[in-house]
Amino acid sequence: MLNIVLFGPPGAGKGTQSQSIVETYGLIHLSTGDLLRSEIKAESELGLKAKSLMDAGKLVPDEVVIGMISNKLETNQDAKGFIFDGFPRTKEQAIALDKLLENHGETITKMLSLEVADEELIKRLLERGKDSGRPDDQNKEVIQGRLDVYNEQTAIVKEYYSTQGKTEELNGIGTIPEVFDRIKKALDNS
Ligand code: AP5
Ligand code: MG
Repeated sequence: MLNIVLFGPPGAGKGTQSQSIVETYGLIHLSTGDLLRSEIKAESELGLKAKSLMDAGKLVPDEVVIGMISNKLETNQDAKGFIFDGFPRTKEQAIALDKLLENHGETITKMLSLEVADEELIKRLLERGKDSGRPDDQNKEVIQGRLDVYNEQTAIVKEYYSTQGKTEELNGIGTIPEVFDRIKKALDNS
């Protein structure tokens, strides 16, 4: 199995690049952000609880996202592999993911970290916010708050995978195909 953690700050291009990875490698894309937004759309109890935190750019509790990922691993046992996008976002989530994969006799193959400067991230998210309808893209303050949450709670996950020798940093600036080329080289060498 090929199990990739596609890592990076808000706006780095995780969702965008996941689409190309799915097409080329036939992996299953698991984005906790997308899963949570589906729950909000369905007006489920979980969605209602998550909405205010997400709109404010704060993380939802670890057990909520770990539970969602656990369900997806159970229901996709025949998968060729997974792309984890926006998960894990805390060290606790990274430890939980290792345990879940271990239960299936699996492990993370590689963690790819898309590196993009803050000014570019803010520009991309404000631009998307014009028609995405995502409340967390609507103003610079909320976007800056998401970048702060990333630096304070999520960046540490990179060290977690570095300790395992799995982290590879990639330049996330350039056209979408240029960035995908870098991802492909990294995966084909792994
Ligand atoms: P989530 O949905 O994961 O959002 P995010 O990580 O904050 O960031 P984005 O999805 O906005 O960015 P992306 O890297 O996917 O970039 P994209 O490809 O879209 O999380 C949302 C919220 O859910 C969190 O704040 C939290 O509340 C909650 N949550 C989710 N997971 C959680 C977890 N594990 N634990 C706790 N809480 C969790 O690209 C962005 C834009 O840039 C697009 O418009 C795109 O077209 C454009 N773009 C992409 N690539 C390029 C390029 N190369 N050049 C120019 N523009 C580009
Ligand atoms: Mg995304």
